[in-house]
Amino acid sequence: MAFYKISNPTDHRICVVMVGLPARGKTFISQKLVGYLSWLSIKAKCFTFADFRRKCGHLSPHALEFNKNTGVINEGVESNDEDEDEEVIEEQALEQIRKWFQSENGVIAVLDDTNITSNRRRSIIEFCQKNNIQPIFVESWSEDEDFVQCNVKDMGRKSIEYKHMDPLEAKQKVMENINKFKKNYEPLDFEKDSDLTFVKLNSGSKEILINKIQTYLQSKIVFYILNLDLKPRCIWLSRHGESLYNLEQKIGGDSLLSKRGEKYSSKLPAIVKESAGLKEKDIVVWTSTLKRTQQTAQYLTNKKLQWRALDELDAGICDGMTYEEIEEKYPDDFQARDENKYEFRYRGGESYRDVALRLEPVIMELERQENILIITHQAVLRCIYAYYMNIPQEQSPWVSIPLHTLIKIEPRAYKTKVTTIKANIPAVSTYKVKGTSHVGEAEDVYTKPYGIIKDTSS
Ligand code: F6P
Repeated sequence: MAFYKISNPTDHRICVVMVGLPARGKTFISQKLVGYLSWLSIKAKCFTFADFRRKCGHLSPHALEFNKNTGVINEGVESNDEDEDEEVIEEQALEQIRKWFQSENGVIAVLDDTNITSNRRRSIIEFCQKNNIQPIFVESWSEDEDFVQCNVKDMGRKSIEYKHMDPLEAKQKVMENINKFKKNYEPLDFEKDSDLTFVKLNSGSKEILINKIQTYLQSKIVFYILNLDLKPRCIWLSRHGESLYNLEQKIGGDSLLSKRGEKYSSKLPAIVKESAGLKEKDIVVWTSTLKRTQQTAQYLTNKKLQWRALDELDAGICDGMTYEEIEEKYPDDFQARDENKYEFRYRGGESYRDVALRLEPVIMELERQENILIITHQAVLRCIYAYYMNIPQEQSPWVSIPLHTLIKIEPRAYKTKVTTIKANIPAVSTYKVKGTSHVGEAEDVYTKPYGIIKDTSS
């Protein structure tokens, strides 16, 4: 399916320009948007001006001065002519974006900066016009104090500017910075900016106002942002318990659980409870329509939902076979799949790309929901995991997602946290090693589950 593979003629260059005060979720939106687009094979990149200024050696984290002409913050610039310096830096940073579009055939650049003055935005528009780029402004604002304070805390702890400081001092500095920006903030305006394509998102209440969205890609961006809930939440991922087919090393099918798989299903409620510390009513369980995932969820008394989109990758004519049998009967297909596992489509079945595309509604719904436990299958979990962890497509089919393991994911603006909780119930490995039909967990660094690993044996 080449539907999302945009070859990028020049009319498909979009620059998403973030607008808003610090601590309004701009970085989170930017990172999530780029992750989502990349996951859909749309070439996207996030450009952070603060990073660029820092690289130019123009930043000292503490001395923050607002430059009224350019609408950006000068942070400890030591030159005598700060305005000129800022303009040069701005131009160089925009030049990076231009180069990326040109040399890398980029489709969507996201400019993660405050861009709070009209002047600043107009200079970005000029740049876009010159380079045949469509600008779309995304303003994130909020008067919800809890939401802002939560972001202030996150910035203080994780952003490069503040993370070396004592938490209280960092919080104070972030607040000082916000107050400086507030004085010069010119929100996007339906009258003054009526010619611009923009979105105003109230991140606290999720109210969204839209002006002049014209193209398919612009509306795709808006639809995603509209569904993003910026509140902190967790997602738990688990494969079904070990199945009878797993014991026989067969792929696909709709078999029941093995004895050890049953044991995992009976232990799962306790593991989830310990990891989540939430009441059952606060977590919804999603399964596929296949028996082994429903059997795994049988002792969970949470609300449950079945999704056909969560069914395992369809192995077509190879369904029910072992890898050894496939290698013997279809050696060319077997080799071709190892060479490009993401794109390889089983005859009469699916590829990883097909699975990712059918998962799009699941991902969209996940972004809207609060706490979800997904019980599904190896290939499907690889795709979901790759989305949250920004794993490149070619690596995603090789990620190790062992049986009898619960993975907790906490998406955050600066880094997604992963905790892997082992149920301590033995199970076979279903990991097919590249280049052979052998099965066993791999050594490669990209194939290991990431993050903190916990064991429930203690
Ligand atoms: O072996 C278990 C299984 O879920 C199969 O049903 C499925 O075909 C396979 O894993 C997907 O993994 P891979 O893409 O590595 O073959």
